[in-house]
This record gives sequence, structure tokens and C-alpha cells, in this order.
Amino acid sequence: MKGLLRLSQQALAASQRAYSSSSTPERKVAILGAAGGIGQPLGLLMKMNPYVSDLALYDIQGTPGVAADISHINSKAKTKGYAGDEQLGEALKGADVIIIPAGVPRKPGMTRDDLFKINASIVKGLVAAAAEHAPGALLNIISNPVNSTVPIAAEVLKQKGTYDPKRLFGVTTLDVVRARTFYAEAKGINVADVEVPVVGGHAGVTILPLFSQATPHKDLSHEEAIALTKRTQEGGTEVVQAKAGKGSATLSMAYAGALFADACLRGLNGEPDVEEFCYVESQVVPELSFFSSRVRLGPNGAEKIFDLGELSEFEQAGLKDLIGELKSSIDKGIEFGRSG
Ligand code: NAI
Repeated sequence: MKGLLRLSQQALAASQRAYSSSSTPERKVAILGAAGGIGQPLGLLMKMNPYVSDLALYDIQGTPGVAADISHINSKAKTKGYAGDEQLGEALKGADVIIIPAGVPRKPGMTRDDLFKINASIVKGLVAAAAEHAPGALLNIISNPVNSTVPIAAEVLKQKGTYDPKRLFGVTTLDVVRARTFYAEAKGINVADVEVPVVGGHAGVTILPLFSQATPHKDLSHEEAIALTKRTQEGGTEVVQAKAGKGSATLSMAYAGALFADACLRGLNGEPDVEEFCYVESQVVPELSFFSSRVRLGPNGAEKIFDLGELSEFEQAGLKDLIGELKSSIDKGIEFGRSG
């Protein structure tokens, strides 16, 4: 992950000069849930991304205003708002990347799984529309619980006959962003130089940061490893509690979502060695049909899924512990995806 520096450089490039479209392919990005807490700053960041030539901002409400506002920014992406079911098809048509942060966020005391009832149906409907109107697009699912919403999406796509596992991703980038920040803070190193793999899923103990593989390598005591792991796993809850009923992570999530979408676009454009951690259909852990691990992104989506590498004893125990919960979230998603 090249991170913040790259993104700010892109923003600068986009705002300071008129971008030549002859060198980069035209790319359309659609954000579904674009008027929400994540959707708005994510729309802003995608508007600043030089690889985006068309930006479709879709929500059930509020997008005319958000789109009018964002569209005045002097960067390349032509930006248009779409509101309501009848405009969903038009928003999706021709999209290369579809980012889905639609749904409800957590309140204090809620787990991500508590969101299942509402968000599962929202994701189902939006993915069905994506299959119909933009069957080849890369889908970036942000809506929680990601551990279940991605298997739901896979089932919907299978029913529509358009499922390509290489093109469906659960966005877990925020876990990586947090792990990098917390590790750099704890060890007093420059966060811009830090890489931390985070594997597993995207909820509580299913989030497994691999600090033993972090670079630059720093020795961690057992207590430090426990504390950093716990903070990464509960980073979302930290924000939910601090916001005290006003939602969950939005700004850091928009940043993370923009990083992941940027990686998808660079992969589509044929840039070599674009790698991110994300939640995909996988055989990395035989018991789990979906798992987040390092993925190489290319012109066809996920080109290669990497093995976990060597885990510390503590991480091996964490991996063993997450399998039950992640499997039941996957099964719940599959069952819901197949129903009615
Ligand atoms: P929000 O409530 O501020 O925004 C959600 C937006 O979705 C609203 O504008 C709403 O009108 C829209 N929406 C609802 N149903 C829709 C539909 N059928 N079609 C299109 N838009 C629809 O919520 P926020 O904070 O933006 O969070 C969105 C989702 O992202 C939540 O599920 C949250 O749990 C998840 N999330 C995921 C993270 C991750 O790391 N993957 C991190 C943080 C949040």
C-alpha cells in the first residue's frame, strides 16, 4: 500500500493541472450510498483521483446536492448525481468500479452483525442491479457486516449468471490503515514507511493483524502484540463509542475506500505489482470460502491471492480462534443470498 503520500500527490496533480485523457483509459466509478457519512468524503476523494473520468453518485436521497457540490471541483471526473430506484440503472451503466457503502452504520453497543437485517437486503438489491447494468465491473463492498455481505453478493451474482470471484471484493483496507497507524505510534516510527498485513475477516476477532510480518520489523513483547492486535480489532468500536450514537468511522473509511478503489483502477489500467489486502473468495484457509489476504490486482481484478506466510504462535492461535465465527458469518450470508 503506497498510501497517503500517493493519494495526496494524486490530489495535487488533479487539482493543479488539466489531466490528459490520452494517457489514461476512461474509467467510470459509481458510488452507491453516496450521500452518507462515508459516501460524501469518498465521493470527494474519487473526484480528486486522476484515473476517474466519470463519477456517478447514487443514493436513495440527497445526491443531487452532493453531486452539485462535488462537481464544481476542477478535476477531470465528470460528476453526476442519481437518486431513487429509477435512476440506479443509469448510474451503474458502464461502470468499471462500483463502490457500495450503502446501509446503516453501528451505534454504541451494536456489533457489525446487528446490522445484518437491514444491510443484507440493501446489498442484495444493489448487487442485483449491478449484475444487470454493469456485469463486468469490480465490486467494492463496504457495507457491514462485510463478512456476510460479500458472500451475499456472490450468491446474487451467481443467480444472475455473472459471478466472477476475481471481481468481488470486501473492503478491509481500514483494518490495514489502522494497524499501520497503531504500530507506528507504538514503536515511534514513521508511519509512511510502515506495512502491516491484516488477514481474516472484518469484525472483532476475525480481524487478524500480522505484526510479526510488519515492516520495518520491530520486536514486540507478548503484551505489546496483544494490545496492538486488540486495538486493531476494536478500532471500529473505538470510533463508534467516541461518536456516541452518531455513527461509525466515516472519514478514515472514506480514505481507506479511496485507497482500495485507486488500487482497483491502477490494476485495471495494467499497472504492475498493485497489491492490497481484501476479502475475497479464497482457498487460503481450507475451512473458509471467503478470507482477506494479500491480493494482486490486475486488468481482470484479483490476479493472485497470496498465502499467509509465517505466523507467530500468537497469530496461529488467533487464526484458529477466528475460523468458527468467520465460517458462521459466511454461511449466514450464503443462506441469505440464496433465499427468495
Ligand atoms: P450512513 O447512514 O451515513 O450512510 C448510508 C447511506 O446509504 C445513506 O445516505 C442512505 O441513504 C444510503 N442508502 C440506504 N439504503 C440505500 C439503498 N438501497 N441504495 C443506495 N443508498 C442507500 O452510513 P455510513 O456511516 O456511511 O456507513 C455505511 C456502511 O458502511 C455501514 O454499513 C457501515 O457499517 C459500513 N462501514 C464499513 C466499514 C468497513 O471497514 N468496511 C467501516 C465503516 C463503516
